Amino acid sequence: MSNLRPESMQRITTKALADAFIAEQIEVLRNKIGDKKVLLALSGGVDSSVCAALLIKAVGSKLVCVHVNHGLLRKGEPEQVIEVFRNQMKANLVYVDAVDRFLDKLAGVSDPETKRKIIGAEFIRVFEEEARKLDGISFLGQGTIYPDILESEKGVKAHHNVGGLPEDLKFELVEPVKLLYKDEVRVVGEALGLPKNMVYRQPFPGPGLGVRCLGAITRDRLEMVRESDAILREEFANAGLEGKVWQYFTIVPELRSTGIENGNRTYAYPVIIRAVNTRDAMTATIEEIPYSLLNKIVMRITGEVKGVNRVVYDLTPKPCGTIEWE
Ligand code: XMP
Repeated sequence: MSNLRPESMQRITTKALADAFIAEQIEVLRNKIGDKKVLLALSGGVDSSVCAALLIKAVGSKLVCVHVNHGLLRKGEPEQVIEVFRNQMKANLVYVDAVDRFLDKLAGVSDPETKRKIIGAEFIRVFEEEARKLDGISFLGQGTIYPDILESEKGVKAHHNVGGLPEDLKFELVEPVKLLYKDEVRVVGEALGLPKNMVYRQPFPGPGLGVRCLGAITRDRLEMVRESDAILREEFANAGLEGKVWQYFTIVPELRSTGIENGNRTYAYPVIIRAVNTRDAMTATIEEIPYSLLNKIVMRITGEVKGVNRVVYDLTPKPCGTIEWE
């Protein structure tokens, strides 16, 4: 398969078109892979999940999925990956609990770009270690999609998610969704039976909650980010905003402020809410959250998240603020 999407290729917008694409890819994948093995880093994001589901349909247990839990995932995500892929799809899934390893490496590091580099490099190292434990791997599966190809051709970014593996681990690539746009990947994912909340989930940065726990990451503030994010997502879903607002999440800065709880003075952390709409993430506008919903979210976060005594809503569009705070 070349890296150029043919002019004649129809946009996959329906279940029938998705089913036809899936049937065609299963043939292609079976012919290419034969009885060899494929390795895939499965983050639980849309692209890697759809790629994994397609490969499982085509070659079953000849696909080995590695899910690295770096401790910076959202609440419930590692559990969902295990439930969907290991329990329901019977995938050959290696789950790596690397939480302590990542958080130890990140301890005391406050510069955002250094945090990103540490997370990226450590991810490659963990993945490499898992790859070395396995015998007879010939291929590396990747959830590359068409925008990744276009951007890497323009030199904007390198699309190889696990690029950076050492020379002796350079496998042949298998990229079954590389000619698809994001909306088509979602339609294919639904046709493959993946849960809707996995297929339609909002964008989530590679370094995860690590860039939302501002400055040097501490375990207590990281839990504040994770718990407040879960409450925000739950309340947005209850209010029918899931899938309507492009990206929404919480941030916990390194500063504290004074508050009161049961008549006593507290000195605790604030949670910052961000909820934005955009087409391409280059510019973004602020979602007008109804006051009643905001109030409910404030009451729940201050009442349920330990160590938090204040909630603020960031009203800054992009520009001049970026979407993430780091
Ligand atoms: P900014 O903050 O630059 O974000 O306005 C634009 C979009 O990119 C996402 N983002 C990242 N995604 N790795 C990623 O995979 C990163 O390091 C990263 N930083 C920001 C951000 O969530 C938003 O959707």
